[in-house]
Amino acid sequence: MFRSIARSAAGKHLLRRGFSTESVPDRKVAVLGASGGIGQPLALLMKLNPLVSRLTLYDIANTPGVAADVSHINTRSEVVGYVGEEQLGQALEGCDVVIIPAGVPRKPGMTRDDLFNINAGIVKGLCSAIAKYCPNALVNMISNPVNSTVPIAAEVFKKAGTYDERKLFGVTTLDVVRAKTFYAGKAKVNVADVNVPVVGGHAGITILPLFSQATPKANLPEDDIKALTKRTQDGGTEVVEAKAGKGSATLSMAYAGALFADACLKGLNGVPDVVECSFVQSTVTELPYFASKVRLGKNGVEEVLGLGPLSDYEKEGLESLKPELKASIEKGIKFANQS
Ligand code: NAD
Ligand code: LMR
Repeated sequence: MFRSIARSAAGKHLLRRGFSTESVPDRKVAVLGASGGIGQPLALLMKLNPLVSRLTLYDIANTPGVAADVSHINTRSEVVGYVGEEQLGQALEGCDVVIIPAGVPRKPGMTRDDLFNINAGIVKGLCSAIAKYCPNALVNMISNPVNSTVPIAAEVFKKAGTYDERKLFGVTTLDVVRAKTFYAGKAKVNVADVNVPVVGGHAGITILPLFSQATPKANLPEDDIKALTKRTQDGGTEVVEAKAGKGSATLSMAYAGALFADACLKGLNGVPDVVECSFVQSTVTELPYFASKVRLGKNGVEEVLGLGPLSDYEKEGLESLKPELKASIEKGIKFANQS
């Protein structure tokens, strides 16, 4: 079903961004874990997105209130809250994009892998339902450890016979958002002009920002590049420590999650040249999943782009991250297949 919105404020926004048709398709988006620290601001940001026609908010608790609140905002989408496992199918049915920020966050002193025992089971259950109720949806995995939850999702979909590698994404956009912010501060350039690819995975040294490819060029000294790399890799921990036991990044993550979901929707709608970094099935390295730039299209990943030229420092970083990333991927695959 198509709805003409060209004359509305939302339509003008789309046309400004080069969307070439007068109509945008209806798109249903679900947020699973919508009552949480990320889920609530992400629900708000998705309600503001004119590409969304129906927004379903699912959690094991508190979604009626979140949905009632968000639904009063006078934007395009209808909002419905679903609570409890028996309503999960309704939340998912007909979805084009499913965003998953369900699960526990870190406390100071924890690694993302310390979340595995709880979050692996949550993700497995949610992905089984996705396979059943919306097998064609693009899945945006936010729940940590992303380096393992993406392989878990893939295995669940493979077992269900619904796996399409073009439709499963680990959301690493927050690493890119951080790298851009930190680079702009150090290089003293306008942050809105900055681009920095971030590759690898989403935990510690597996996060590899490629500042040698950052634009605008700033020719920063090697020490600055090392400090920026470390800050990007430790960005999540910086927030966890500042929040002192009250969780991890939520607002910046909601922003990053909304950016990535918007890119997925644009790709689905046929907007050309939508490129974002994401942790996807990959042949860029010998590892089966890897984050790099991907071109998004009508079926999800249209092309996984290569790494481009790396500095010697980045080449070293790439080799150092591989054993940890490989172990996290294998841990996810093993979990999904043993239980
Ligand atoms: P939170 O505890 O504030 O919210 C999590 C929500 O998930 C809660 O509302 C909870 O009820 C819900 N939930 C738990 N089990 C569920 C289930 N089976 N089905 C549906 N919902 C369920 O946590 P948060 O701060 O929002 O973080 C959520 C996850 O996102 C964590 O794993 C965190 O590590 C991760 N995260 C990832 C990134 C990233 O860059 N990919 C960034 C920040 C946080
Ligand atoms: C982040 O990068 O902020 C998230 O992965 C949350 C965390 O635990 O650091």
